[in-house]
Amino acid sequence: MVITIQLENVTQTYRVRGNPVTALDHVSLSIEAGEYCAMVGESGSGKTTLMHVMGLLATPTEGRYTLCGQDVFAMKNGGRSRLRAAHIGFVFQDFFLNPRLTAVENVELPLRLAGIARNRRRDMALEALEKVGLSGRTDHLPRELSGGQQQRVAFARATVHHPALILADEPTGNLDKRSTASILDLLRAENTRGATIFMITHDPSAALSASRVLTMEQGRITGDRLL
Ligand SMILES: Nc1ncnc2c1ncn2[C@@H]1O[C@H](COP(=O)(O)OP(=O)(O)OP(=O)(O)O)[C@@H](O)[C@H]1O
Ligand SMILES: [Mg+2]
Repeated sequence: MVITIQLENVTQTYRVRGNPVTALDHVSLSIEAGEYCAMVGESGSGKTTLMHVMGLLATPTEGRYTLCGQDVFAMKNGGRSRLRAAHIGFVFQDFFLNPRLTAVENVELPLRLAGIARNRRRDMALEALEKVGLSGRTDHLPRELSGGQQQRVAFARATVHHPALILADEPTGNLDKRSTASILDLLRAENTRGATIFMITHDPSAALSASRVLTMEQGRITGDRLL
């Protein structure tokens, strides 16, 4: 599976106590299969909202989204969920780990959804945790981990099933230099394997590991440059 993304005129308007808030304002964006894109932009500019639309977690007010040639907003919910589970890995800005599951159980979740057998799941999850330097914390619950460790569990969960599309919202936001470098190395390796990557970051040096940098301002894409 290769992932090509095409958003056309996507607008997302929220209503907050009667007042409209425009989070995305006629965004059009094409990302080719295998691209590595970083997105930068001020807080509140719409980056996370855009990522949620791209990841089929939100349906915008207006616009069209073609993912691998399929008009995804026209699909039924079940079809969208299956597409998401099979091909998309997420690193959420606030991690979104299941608080009742240990680190290794959290990482196993996408493998369960993908129907992988129990014994293989455990081995794959342990290997993914080892890659992010968490071999010693596999049986900890999220509340027993530091913020940066939770972020690394979230990263392992997003990449354990080697999805065709990885959407990462500030995946290095809470990490020191060394952990940041290892996460960026892992993203690079996933990209080399063929995954399409979309990473939101406030860190200009992290953005430089991408091959294309998009800038978001007030719900619009105002910059798009190749590195
Ligand atoms: N569920 C919601 N209901 C109402 N308004 C929302 C909702 N989610 C986001 N917004 C608004 O939409 C705008 C874009 O939010 P978004 O989370 O996409 O920004 P962001 O670029 O990811 O910011 P940050 O860098 O702080 O994470 C903001 O003005 C925010 O207040
Ligand atoms: Mg955000």
